[in-house]
Amino acid sequence: MGNLLIDNIGELVTNQVGTGTGGPLGIRRKAAVLVEEDRIAWIGPAKYAPAADRRIDVDGRAVLPGFVDSHAHLVFAGDRAAEFAARMSGQPYTGGGIRTTVAATRAAGDDDLRATVARLRAEALRQGTTTIEIKSGYGLSVADEARSLRIAAEFSPETTFLGAHVVPTEYAARPDDYVGLVCGPMLTAALPHAKWIDVFCDRGAFDADHARAILTVGQAAGLGVRLHANQLGPGPGVRLAVELGAASADHCTHLSDADVEALASTSVDGVTSTVATLLPGAEFSTRSPYPDARRLLDAGVTVALATDCNPGSSYTSSMPFCVALAVREMGMTPAEAVWAATAGGAAALRRGDIGVLRPGARADLTVLDAPSHLHLAYRPGVPLISQVLHNGVPQ
Ligand code: NIG
Ligand code: FE
Repeated sequence: MGNLLIDNIGELVTNQVGTGTGGPLGIRRKAAVLVEEDRIAWIGPAKYAPAADRRIDVDGRAVLPGFVDSHAHLVFAGDRAAEFAARMSGQPYTGGGIRTTVAATRAAGDDDLRATVARLRAEALRQGTTTIEIKSGYGLSVADEARSLRIAAEFSPETTFLGAHVVPTEYAARPDDYVGLVCGPMLTAALPHAKWIDVFCDRGAFDADHARAILTVGQAAGLGVRLHANQLGPGPGVRLAVELGAASADHCTHLSDADVEALASTSVDGVTSTVATLLPGAEFSTRSPYPDARRLLDAGVTVALATDCNPGSSYTSSMPFCVALAVREMGMTPAEAVWAATAGGAAALRRGDIGVLRPGARADLTVLDAPSHLHLAYRPGVPLISQVLHNGVPQ
């Protein structure tokens, strides 16, 4: 196939601070990118672009790293549109609807689940997402969690075991027994297909002691830790994430000063080793107040943006939508939001090969139908993705 030159780029977002004309996005103007197989081979001024076997002229458009959606629940059956409608009429979100999706997921065949993941994965890719983390968590039995992860692994290397999403109905009177199941046979069945372990640590789900027990045993088995924390109310989740060295504390909607300080304390060379992953699609769809990204950023906490795509609290696969919400509702500048949706997501997954454009990085690129990254927030709801390259291949 040979190499491929992306030429005539008006604005190139590299996320490499200190290159080009600078700014937090490492923006370069009038640039070109040479792709060889699945990697970036060269970046430089378009006028010095090397000859290549193939060439795509993007005609002055903006080019960004592909979005990194570091939090999604794609393995499920059915939807909960009626629950959404009830919320829009004033009902609160409690997480109780998770059990509705568990029942539908258990009843579905493998091919149905696979088709849903494929559909959502394709939908995300069309909107510029080139990496998507996929959680289990709607099986909640040994066999159903294992198959959820097996199917997830067909679509992404970033798979997360979320057996501790809620206590399923059949264990309602015996939550300790369910935690024992998660820590024992369910973890063993999940391990071949999972890279990460996650717990929903919140009211109505798992408390800090149960969450610590589950995450500690998962970590000892070799899984990386991430945590659903402080979504429905204040609580111990964020501090537990820091205590365990989690890659990410997700949601962070209700934070105390101590939570923010704990996250900031993990900073190494300007990036916090525990990232705060904010999920504005969930606040949009649950009518909860949005998390305060400004407060986190001002405290020096690394912020990622992700969709939380799931049929209950956030049925969107659109990272551009999340960027627009973060700018309008969460105090982020457009540059901060674009960074959080690309390099921030990569930090939350502890990946150095994605979310940046530099020689050696994976050739995952999004071409906007716009001259600047600003348009992602400036033109909300508009399909601005002109072209996507994933692993060097035009999609
Ligand atoms: O991240 N908070 C827990 N889990 C999902 C919601 C799942 C659901 O409602 O089905 C979330 O928002
Ligand atoms: Fe979630």
